[in-house]
Amino acid sequence: MNLARQPQHAPPRSPLRGPALPIGLAVTAIGVLMSLVSLPSAPADARVPPEPRVVQAVPPVDVAATTAADPCAEQVVRDAIAAADDAATIAAFGGAESFRAAVAAGNAPCIALDDPSHVWVVVNKARPLNPVDFAPQSLAPAPVRVTTGSGQARADVAAALGAMAAAAAADGVGQIGANNGYRSYDLQVRTYAGHVRSEGQANADAASARAGHSEHQTGLALDLVACAPCGGIDAFGATAQGAWVAEHAWEYGFIVRYEAGATGVTGYKPEPWHVRYIGPELAAAYHHGGFHTLEEFFGLPAAPDYLH
Ligand code: DAL
Ligand code: ZN
Repeated sequence: MNLARQPQHAPPRSPLRGPALPIGLAVTAIGVLMSLVSLPSAPADARVPPEPRVVQAVPPVDVAATTAADPCAEQVVRDAIAAADDAATIAAFGGAESFRAAVAAGNAPCIALDDPSHVWVVVNKARPLNPVDFAPQSLAPAPVRVTTGSGQARADVAAALGAMAAAAAADGVGQIGANNGYRSYDLQVRTYAGHVRSEGQANADAASARAGHSEHQTGLALDLVACAPCGGIDAFGATAQGAWVAEHAWEYGFIVRYEAGATGVTGYKPEPWHVRYIGPELAAAYHHGGFHTLEEFFGLPAAPDYLH
């Protein structure tokens, strides 16, 4: 059996985990109630998650527990956040779907979606990195063939990529390599400027993030290629490896961040090669919830354009 292929949506309990079930039930219920009245509607061209998904996710709920819910006040949540343990924080909320629902409902002020050190960070044209020149603390080489000089990722992300590439190879679809992983603020300045020079600004903005707005600067994103010989990123979506990644990336904590049909939300043309690590717990909730953008996952507005 290939253990790397086992979906990881039931992570082991963290020692920080406390009375997660009641909190989770309460958070989920509050999230659903608030989402029914307060979430902004997506634009007509956005890929809106199907309504029944949310309803199906709600277990029977104890009303008293629901009205008492304030997950950020729970000690188990505070301890996990203080320990900067993302998996434990998600578990302390009662699991990824409860975490997501609480964030989307505005019931998790202790979770900063603009903090690039966490797997839940959301970076887009309307949400620059904070700080704008952020650099990850730990980087490691991507353990695959790399076709540029920018083949690093956050250490945990590099390890997840290695597991994913090994599973793809074991499934017989061939090698997965990486083009770009981490790009510093300065490298993103040069990358975006190169697109503007060669394609003009409008086309550049549909394909390349301005510095301070790229997921590559977080160390959580990589552009994949099919090897060997390794092709380019543009070819990846039509390869066996690209099809495999679209189906299985979530099992390793990744999502395909810029899907076809989501340009109205993300602001970018489809990039089947660009995978973003959100961790196995959130990725499982994203997959099972039928989401196609992180913006919809966390109840954020669409970000098709820069604000200024
Ligand atoms: N190509 C993606 C949008 C980036 O530059 O981060
Ligand atoms: Zn990319």
